[in-house]
Amino acid sequence: MGRVFVAGSINMDVVATADRHPRIGETVAGHSVLYFPGGKGANQAVSAAKLGAATTLIGHLGKDAFGDELKAFLAGQGIDLSFVQQTPQAHTGTAIITIANADNTIVVILGANALVSAADVAAPRLAKGDIAVSQFEIPLPAIAAFFKRARAAGATTILNPAPAIEFNRELLDLVDILILNETELGSLAKTQLHDSDDQDRFIEAAKSLPMAKDKIICVTMGKRGVLALVGGESSLIPGRSVKVVDTTGAGDCFVGAVAAQLAAGRTIHDALAYANAAASICVQRMGAAPSMPTAAEVLSASCPREREAP
Ligand code: RIB
Repeated sequence: MGRVFVAGSINMDVVATADRHPRIGETVAGHSVLYFPGGKGANQAVSAAKLGAATTLIGHLGKDAFGDELKAFLAGQGIDLSFVQQTPQAHTGTAIITIANADNTIVVILGANALVSAADVAAPRLAKGDIAVSQFEIPLPAIAAFFKRARAAGATTILNPAPAIEFNRELLDLVDILILNETELGSLAKTQLHDSDDQDRFIEAAKSLPMAKDKIICVTMGKRGVLALVGGESSLIPGRSVKVVDTTGAGDCFVGAVAAQLAAGRTIHDALAYANAAASICVQRMGAAPSMPTAAEVLSASCPREREAP
């Protein structure tokens, strides 16, 4: 059984809910302000841990009230925090999120996340069968150093290139599994993609990425499901029809679930189907990290009849 190591961001999400998003220059009256543990790295670690994987998070928090609260929350999820440092040099990462009609806008202020370095990711010892996961809310040189060490140890690397930014070919060469949404795929493939585009457009864009044929690309398409390119062959895992409350963290739930399943020795196709079910539960709840499902919840969503049987 492998373990999951996540090098990534830890944020406090400050969420305002309203009936609609304000236009530029406009003020709208909201309903509530809510505080949720978040950050792509922390969300992915919580997802993997709640689904049963031995999970270690590598990251930085500020030495402040948000930092203390987030550390206590993450410890309560059973995540190994030996490589999470609290620093007085910067404030805890913060995301300002507006949610209206189940759609969100997010502004992230990296704070302490920007201090994660190559030295931080060199500390944990990875081994063959482990899964190394990262995203783009920590500095790119730290991610490259993390993946190089993971590769040298025989671990599998998963990159979620979110939020979309320019990055170099050397980093992509260190990636075994790329998990991204349409916007991130468009940015990486240097083409305009829309969520209403035909699947073939996504397949074409994914195939255009400079990745070897034995690498895996998964495009998460929200309610349309997930498109996977495995060994050059594409397949679709259809989306599940559920009542969406808040999509924040759903992509992170998916990534963490894939990592947990691969660490447990499942095939990539089984892992993707499972992660698709997990993300469909996450979107039915408010908040990012607190909305990650347990393995029992995913089982019951995957085979509802099994639970009803006497
Ligand atoms: O992917 C969702 C996450 O993005 C939020 O939790 C927020 O912190 C931002 O990092």
